[in-house]
Amino acid sequence: MTDAAWPPRDRWWEGAVLYQVYPRSFADSNGDGIGDLRGILDRLDHLAGADGALGVDAVWLSPIYPSPQHDFGYDISDYTDVAAEFGTLQDLDALIAACHDRGLRFLMDLVPCHTSIEHPWFLDARSSRDAEHRDWYVWADPGPDDGAPSNWESVFGGSTWEWDEATGQFYLHTFYPEQPNLNWRNPAVAEAMADVMRFWFDRGVDGFRVDAIFAAVHDALFRDNPPLRRAHMIPGFGSDAGQDPLWSMARPEVHDVIRHLRRVANEHPGRVLVGEAYLPVEELAGYLGHGRDDEFHLAFDFELLHSPWEHQHLTLAVERSEALHPRGVWPTYAIGNHDQARPASRWGAERGRAAAFLLLALRGVAVLYAGDEIGMRNADPAMLPDPPFDRAGRDGYRTPMQWTPSPGAGFTTGGTPWLPLVDSGTRNVAEQSADPRSLLSLYRRLIAARRASPALEHGTQRSLFGVATDVMAWTREADDERVLCVLNVGDAPQSCALPIARIGADSGEVLVATSDRVGRVALVNLVLEPLEGIALRL
Ligand code: GLC
Ligand code: CA
Repeated sequence: MTDAAWPPRDRWWEGAVLYQVYPRSFADSNGDGIGDLRGILDRLDHLAGADGALGVDAVWLSPIYPSPQHDFGYDISDYTDVAAEFGTLQDLDALIAACHDRGLRFLMDLVPCHTSIEHPWFLDARSSRDAEHRDWYVWADPGPDDGAPSNWESVFGGSTWEWDEATGQFYLHTFYPEQPNLNWRNPAVAEAMADVMRFWFDRGVDGFRVDAIFAAVHDALFRDNPPLRRAHMIPGFGSDAGQDPLWSMARPEVHDVIRHLRRVANEHPGRVLVGEAYLPVEELAGYLGHGRDDEFHLAFDFELLHSPWEHQHLTLAVERSEALHPRGVWPTYAIGNHDQARPASRWGAERGRAAAFLLLALRGVAVLYAGDEIGMRNADPAMLPDPPFDRAGRDGYRTPMQWTPSPGAGFTTGGTPWLPLVDSGTRNVAEQSADPRSLLSLYRRLIAARRASPALEHGTQRSLFGVATDVMAWTREADDERVLCVLNVGDAPQSCALPIARIGADSGEVLVATSDRVGRVALVNLVLEPLEGIALRL
C-alpha cells in the first residue's frame, strides 16, 4: 500500500533516513590508516541499492575539505576543494554520481560560522588592521585591565577570545582558537558563503548539514554573559562554564543568517538544509521558521539523544518534539553522532534494539551514525592515543567502522588505523549481516518496514498514555493505513492496558518487531517482553 505520489520529489527528506559518515573512519582505500572518498564509494552497498543494504535515503559526510585538522575538518582552509588525505574533487564527483545511481541523496557539511586559522581569508585578516578581509572576522579591543573583551566561554572551555599580538586585538572563536568566527554582520561573508553553497549545488550535492549555526552572530557590544540561573539548555559538549550564553550564542540575528542560507538553497530545487544547534526544542522550532518554511528544512532535535533511558524522560522528549513540530514540520532525531558518546555506551548495549525501534518508528527524519547500526561502543579511554587527537575528548566515538573480523577490520588493508579498532573481532558488519537476529538485521528490517508503510514513513502521530509502566505507545496514520507502535523501555515484562475502543481494533499484524514476533497479535492483555518494540498494522 505504498503511495507512489509520496514523498513529493522536491521534499524527499520528509520521513527520510539519513546516514552519517565520518570520513576518516569509514573505509580506507589506500592503506594509510585514514578513511577516504574511494573507500566510501567501495562501501556503498552497505547503504543502498544492493541486496542486504540498509536502504537509507541519503548519506551525509562530515567535512572533507582541506583543513589543518585541528578539529578534524570542522576547521576549513578551503571551502571548495577536497583534502588530499580524502582524495580529489574528481573522487568526490565520482562518489556523488555513484550515490545518485543508487537513488541515494548526497549531503555535505557546511561550516559557515568559522574558518581555519589557515584559511587565506584569516591569514589576510590578521596581516594588518586595514587588510581587505579584516572585517570578515570578529575583532575587539581589550576589555578593562587589558583582559578579554567579555567573559564569554568557548564551547570547548576557556575564553572565547584569542589575543593577536601582531595587530593588537582579540579575535572571537566559539570553538577552538584555531577556528576564528566569521563576521556574519558583514555582507561580503554572506555572499562568499552563498557562492560556496552554489559551487556544491552545481556539482550535484543534494543539501547540507549546517554546522553549529547558533554561533553565527554575537552581541555587537560584547556584553558579559550572566551566570546560569536555570538548568542549562541541553548539554552540548565541552564547557560547563556555569554561564548563560545569552549574549554569545543563539542571538535573534541568527535567523537572518538562516534565511539567507535558505534563499540560496531555494535557487536549486529539491535541496535540503539540516541545521545543527544544541538548543531546547522551543528555540529550535524557530530555526524551522515557525511554519513559514523560510529557514532550515530540518534541524536536529537533540533532546531525545540527551534523554536518560527512562520512560518519563523519553516520553517527555518525544512529546515536546511533537508539540513543537506541527504537521508538515519534521522532527529530526539522531541517537548518535561524532560528538556524542555512542548510544551503546550511553544507554547500554542491551537497549540497542529498543533504541533502533524508537529512532525509526517515531514520526520524524531519522539520522543514523555509522557504526551505531552494529552497536559499536566508545573506545576504552586506555586504548586511545595520548595526547588525544581531539582535545574535547571525542576520539572514543570516532573509531573506524568495523566491517569484518579480520585484522584491519575491512577498514584498512594497510598499517595502523588512525584510531584503534574497538572490538571488530566480535562486532562487525560481515557477521551481523549473516545473522537475522543481529542489530544490523533489525535496522534493515526497521528501515524496510518504514519504506513499505506510508503510516510509519510519513504518517501523523498520536501518543497513548498510561498503557503500562515503562511502555511507550503511539499510533501512526497516513492515507488509509494505521499503525500501532508499542515499546517497553523497561527491563521487566509489561502487561499493557491498551485503549481498545480508542484504537478501534483489537488486534494488529506485525510489520516489524525487535523480537521474533510475527503474524497477528491480540491487543487485549498484550504482554511485552523486556525492551520489546512492535509495530502493528491495525
Ligand atoms: C559541530 C561539529 C563538531 C565541531 C563543532 C565546531 O558541533 O559537529 O564536531 O567541533 O561544530 O565546528
Ligand atoms: Ca586512506
